[in-house]
Amino acid sequence: MSPSLITVSYLGAAALFILALGGLSSNVTARRGNLFGIIGMTIAVLVTIAAFVTQHHEVLVAIMIAGGVIGFILSRRVQMTQMPELVAILHSLVGLAAVLVGFANFMDPSIQYTGVEKTIHEIEIYIGIAIGALTFTGSVIAYGKLSGMIGGQPMLLPARHWLNLALFIAVIVIAVKFVGAADHGQATILLLAMTVIALLFGIHMVAAIGGADMPVVISMLNSYSGWAAAATGFMLSNDLLIVTGALVGSSGAILSYIMCRAMNRHFVSVIAGGFGTSGGSSAGVSIEGEVQTIDIPAMAELLNNAKQVMVVPGYGMATAQAQHAIADITKTLIKKGINVRFGIHPVAGRMPGHMNVLLAEAKVPYDIVFEMDEINDDFPDIDVSIVVGANDTVNPLAQEDVDSPIAGMPVLEVWKGHTTVVLKRGMAAGYAGVDNPLFVKDNTRMLFGDAKESLDALAQAL
Ligand code: TAP
Repeated sequence: MSPSLITVSYLGAAALFILALGGLSSNVTARRGNLFGIIGMTIAVLVTIAAFVTQHHEVLVAIMIAGGVIGFILSRRVQMTQMPELVAILHSLVGLAAVLVGFANFMDPSIQYTGVEKTIHEIEIYIGIAIGALTFTGSVIAYGKLSGMIGGQPMLLPARHWLNLALFIAVIVIAVKFVGAADHGQATILLLAMTVIALLFGIHMVAAIGGADMPVVISMLNSYSGWAAAATGFMLSNDLLIVTGALVGSSGAILSYIMCRAMNRHFVSVIAGGFGTSGGSSAGVSIEGEVQTIDIPAMAELLNNAKQVMVVPGYGMATAQAQHAIADITKTLIKKGINVRFGIHPVAGRMPGHMNVLLAEAKVPYDIVFEMDEINDDFPDIDVSIVVGANDTVNPLAQEDVDSPIAGMPVLEVWKGHTTVVLKRGMAAGYAGVDNPLFVKDNTRMLFGDAKESLDALAQAL
């Protein structure tokens, strides 16, 4: 394959990846964005194989088929609620690949550089393996926490910040020795020592982060996996890998920043660990008041008399798979001339865009689905807010209690509306483990039960 054809194909693939990211920024264009990404990746893989693989094609094909089959089965089986942990374990594979490629590159006798080029190549290998190793173990721990295999509580070792600093200094000192190492054997030992430190660093970094901050960790590991791929691209002198890695790295970093803002966390505090503990109700505030319930006929009547309705979905809508039921009710209400809108909190559910994906699946029109910032000021004009399995994201304690684990997190201010109906099974706390005074407010009515069953019954009543 001619070098110019490779360059043109790589440029085309890179452009398609940029279009893919652009498309994924909105529900309306997300499918098209995915399609661009699939086409770009197909071009990238085929051109790379045609251009650089000269022998053992049968091994490559066998491994690609095996990987493809495993990926296909996983994607068919995974529940929407398990997506974050699937993403975490996939990031670990990117990190592991960067480590393996780094060592393979380092040990390849056919790669011989001298002078400055040798130094640069060694730095590329070192950085690629370091980021890859910490992404690998960090992602495995994130997977363990999200899947419940290990506890969500942060592991806070004494003097953990000093420990991190010591590990970081060790990595730098070893880097200096590695680049100046006289013989290959000594350099290999130094590289192995750094890899072990980076693996431990990844474990320590993510183990110290509390359950409520895990969303940020996932997007941060996404970013790291991109930088690991970019470093591998430098190592292999592969422009497309550099561009793709940088796109993933920077978009993951931007997403981490957006999520930190949505949860009112400082990025550095999250990474330093020890925040976001899911440790039960805040001690400072006791929730007092009486729970008032509502039944299906009364709720149907409430809705029939409303002009403005806001639906606020949360994680419970996902577990109940209630999106189709709420979509049917929305259609019915719109037919009756009632203005129905959806308000989506940026971290509702368990992954970015979780609610949007479910609502799109149930064919709720995009133009009635709004981000929190777009509609939060509208609640005083809302007659009925229907909170479907949301809890932390509508918890007034975030504004009222500075000691709460969710203190300062922006929330959907449903309580400012005329009446709020909350659909959930009982009085259990949400993800952050905090009680919610919304449930005892004068203008709140609780509709207890599985959200899908309640909404199906409500659809009948309407
Ligand atoms: P949560 O605070 O997690 O609350 C969900 C509520 O749904 C629970 O209180 C539960 O109460 C109810 N529920 C569960 N199953 C139900 C069912 N079948 N029918 C009806 N209700 C049901 O939800 P949220 O408001 O969406 O907040 C999300 C939380 O997750 C935030 O703290 C966020 O930081 C965190 N988080 C978010 C992400 C991303 S990126 N979105 C990732 C990880 C963590 P009952 O048990 O009483 O029914």
